[in-house]
Amino acid sequence: MHALVVVAHPDPNSLSHAVAQALADGVSNAGHTAEIADLAGEGFDPRFSLDDLSVHRREIAQPAEIAAEQARVDRADALVLVYPIYWWSMPALLKGWIDRVFANGWAYDELEDMKTVKKLRHLPVHLVALAGADLRTFARHGYYGAMRTQIDHGIFGYCGAPVVTSELLVPVPDMSAHLDTARALGGKVFAQANRAAEAA
Ligand SMILES: Cc1cc2nc3c(=O)[nH]c(=O)nc-3n(C[C@H](O)[C@H](O)[C@H](O)COP(=O)(O)O)c2cc1C
Repeated sequence: MHALVVVAHPDPNSLSHAVAQALADGVSNAGHTAEIADLAGEGFDPRFSLDDLSVHRREIAQPAEIAAEQARVDRADALVLVYPIYWWSMPALLKGWIDRVFANGWAYDELEDMKTVKKLRHLPVHLVALAGADLRTFARHGYYGAMRTQIDHGIFGYCGAPVVTSELLVPVPDMSAHLDTARALGGKVFAQANRAAEAA
C-alpha cells in the first residue's frame, strides 16, 4: 500500500515537516511506502486561475500540472495532509491545492440536476493539523468544531473520502512527543483503512 503525505509549510526545518517525515517513516516501518509532497518546496501555485474555472465549467481539460497532482493522489491508497493552522484553518497553499486539484470531474461530478456524485469514496484521508494555540482556546471558541465541519465534512465528505484520522497537535512541553504520535499514526494508516473498508 502507498500513502501520499502532503505537507504545506514554507520551512523545510519546521515541526510540520518533521511530523510529515515521522508519519512517512511510520508508514514505511509498517511495510508500506510513502511519498512526501512538499507543496512549498515544489513551488505549487495555489492560485485558482481562469483555466481552473474553465475546467470547473467542463469547458477544457485539466492543465498538465493539475492532472499530475491528481495522478499522484490516484496512485495512493491513502492521503495524509499535514499542515500548520493559519487563521483557524488550513494555510492558503493547501486550500489552493484543494481548490485546484479536487476539481469537478475528478473529485466529484456535478450533474445538471444539482446533484453530485462523490468520486473519492475509495480514498481514506488522515488530517494532522499543528496549532500554536492550546486546546482550551480551540474549545472556547468552537474553532476545532468549525475546522472539522469545514474541512473534514465540507471538503472530504463532499467528495465521499472517509476521514479516518483528524488530529490536532497543540503545543506541549516536549514537542518531540508529536513526532512519536506521527510515527504511530503512520504505522496505523493502513490498519485503519482496512478497518474502514471492512465497516463500509
Ligand atoms: C500566518 C499564521 C497564522 C496562524 N494562525 C494560527 C491560528 O489561527 N491558530 C493557531 O493555533 N495557530 C496559528 N498559528 C501558529 C501556527 O499554527 C504554529 O506556529 C504552527 O502550527 C507551528 O508549527 P511549525 O513549527 O511547523 O510552524 C499561525 C501562524 C501563522 C504564521
